[in-house]
Parts: sequence; structure tokens; C-alpha cells
Amino acid sequence: MYKIAVMPGDGTGPEVVNEGLKVLKKAAAKFSIKFDFKEFDFGGERYLKTGETLPEGAIEELRGFQAIYLGAIGHPDVKPGILETGILLKLRFSLEQYINLRPIKLYPNVETPLANKKPEDIDFVVVRENTEGLYCGVGGFFKKGTPDEVAVQQMINTRKGVERCIRYAFEFTRKRNREKKLTLCAKINVLTYAHDLWLRTFNEVAAEYPDVKSDYAHVDAITMWMVKNPEWFDVIVTTNMFGDIITDLGAMVQGGMGIAAGGNINPHGVSMFEPIGGSAPKYTGKNVINPIAAILAAQMMLAQLGEQEAAANVEKAAVAAIGKMKSMAAGRMGYTTSEVGDLVAEGI
Ligand code: IPM
Ligand code: MN
Repeated sequence: MYKIAVMPGDGTGPEVVNEGLKVLKKAAAKFSIKFDFKEFDFGGERYLKTGETLPEGAIEELRGFQAIYLGAIGHPDVKPGILETGILLKLRFSLEQYINLRPIKLYPNVETPLANKKPEDIDFVVVRENTEGLYCGVGGFFKKGTPDEVAVQQMINTRKGVERCIRYAFEFTRKRNREKKLTLCAKINVLTYAHDLWLRTFNEVAAEYPDVKSDYAHVDAITMWMVKNPEWFDVIVTTNMFGDIITDLGAMVQGGMGIAAGGNINPHGVSMFEPIGGSAPKYTGKNVINPIAAILAAQMMLAQLGEQEAAANVEKAAVAAIGKMKSMAAGRMGYTTSEVGDLVAEGI
């Protein structure tokens, strides 16, 4: 019995989570898996009503679950930063979800903006460090609001944090068993301290994985090559902020936010899975948003729980549904949100 915390969240989050749950329930029945879903109302609406992002005791309660299934966090009436730091980043940090795993995969029948690139050219995974770097929230103002104002925002890289991320990436590359190539994406020519630590750690760990080819590229070059030669990549490991940026580029390359899923992973604890597209306020409540990203996030959750057969089946059913859709874009799919969910569920 898997206890799953469900956080539909804001905007279109609840709509896409519904479809993901529909598919999970179908997969559960088919593969004799038992889920116990418990819903939590964390998000912008709750914050506007109560002033609370995550209530007292929420983190402790969530530790009792096997995984978290998240829709979207973000509300047009809440100042930027409050929900992001108070909910999403708080969960990632407190639950030590130190990996953000983001597959960049072009499925057949999905349009990519890259000319002449086919599904066999776009199939790589970004392993993003998820608890340190520029996201640590360390810094402050000096003489705020005066002409002499100084703002400092520090980047923290710990040997422990860097090493566990790099180790995960090597293990992941080995298990993925494709090209067995891991590329470190950093900026060692400018961030001569922080990324020196990354490169040294990468090289030291690489010595333990002689079967994995290790490679290095600066982040700015990576953005060129992701567009020009995406087929060069198998697995990329990178810092929190660089990973944030290159995975949005990756999402576009794989066909848009309607299809991009990610997992916030604590390999020894509670992981959290989400479509990475956000709350999409302008499509809310219209039954037009693409639930495929949320369904693929559910598929990643099954895989992380060890339900490989069910995960593979959900992916296959999603691929079949994608094959029938007109577009991945909201409102142009040729189906409603719930019809896409039905299509995938029927394919299980
Ligand atoms: C993401 C998002 C978050 C991030 C925001 C909402 C804090 O952009 O999951 O990529 O920057 O990590
Ligand atoms: Mn992002």
C-alpha cells in the first residue's frame, strides 16, 4: 500500500492532477498496486484565506508518505516569491529532495521547434541539484532603499551536496544504460571557486565509474548545443540555477510545457513529482490544458516507487494518446483535458 500525498495546488493544477489520478487508479487496478491518496490544499487559495503557506506540522506529516503528487503552485494575486519559497522550495529543502530529475524526450507526433530533429535525436535527462546553489536564500540588503543600496545573494555549494548529486547522476547514467555519457554543465571559467568544487568532485567520482564516459561543457555552450545538437546528450548534471534555466529550454525542445514532467527526488526519503508547467491561470477551469505532463509525472512516481512495469505501461499509453492528439498546446489538442486523461487510462 502506497500512501501518496496529493497536492493539486493552484490554477490548472487540480485539472491535470485529476487526470493523473485517473491514470494511476487504472494502473493500480491493472497491476495490483494499492494506493491510499490523501489530498492537501496547500497553495495560493489557502494562503489568501489563512495567510499560511505550509501549516505547522505539515512537513512532519508528509514524512509519513511514500511520495507527493503535486499539480502546480502559483497564484496571480500572491506576490511572487511567497508561495515558491513557502511551499515548493520549503518542501524540496525540508524533505531533502536533493535531485531534480527532468527527462527531455521528444515523443513521436510531438512538434519540436528544432528543425530536422526527430525523437531519436532528443532523448536526454537533466539531473539538477535541488537544495543548494543560488536557491539557498542566504543574503541580504545593506542600506536598502537608499542610493547606496547593496544587495547580496550568495551561492552555497557544499562538498556533501555536490557529491551526492554527482553520485546520483553517475548511478542514473549507468542504469539508464544508453550512451552511458554524463556531461557536467557548469561555468568553471568564471565561477572559479564554486564550480572548481563541482569539477573536482565530478572527476573524483568519475574515477569510480570507468564504464561511464564523462564530459564537461560550460552552461552557455550547453544552451547552444541543446538547440543545435541535442543528440549529443545522454545525461547532464548541473547546479540548481543552471538546471532551472536549461530545463525550461529543454521543455520547449521536447514540445512545450504541456509535456514536461519532473521529479524532486530524495533517493532515501519522500520524493515529489510534478508537471513543470506551472499554474497557467489563463487556462484555469476551461478543460483545455494538456494533462500529459502531469500523467508523465505520475509515471515517474511509479518508477521511483519501484513499479517499473506499471510505469512502462503508463508511458506506453501516454505515447499512444499523444499519437492521436493534434497538438500539445492548451486548447489545440483536439481533445479536452479530461478526454486526454480518458485516452491514456483506456490505453493501460
Ligand atoms: C521550477 C520552478 C521553480 C524553480 C520556481 C517556481 C521556484 O521554476 O520548478 O523549475 O525555480 O525551481
Ligand atoms: Mn523553473
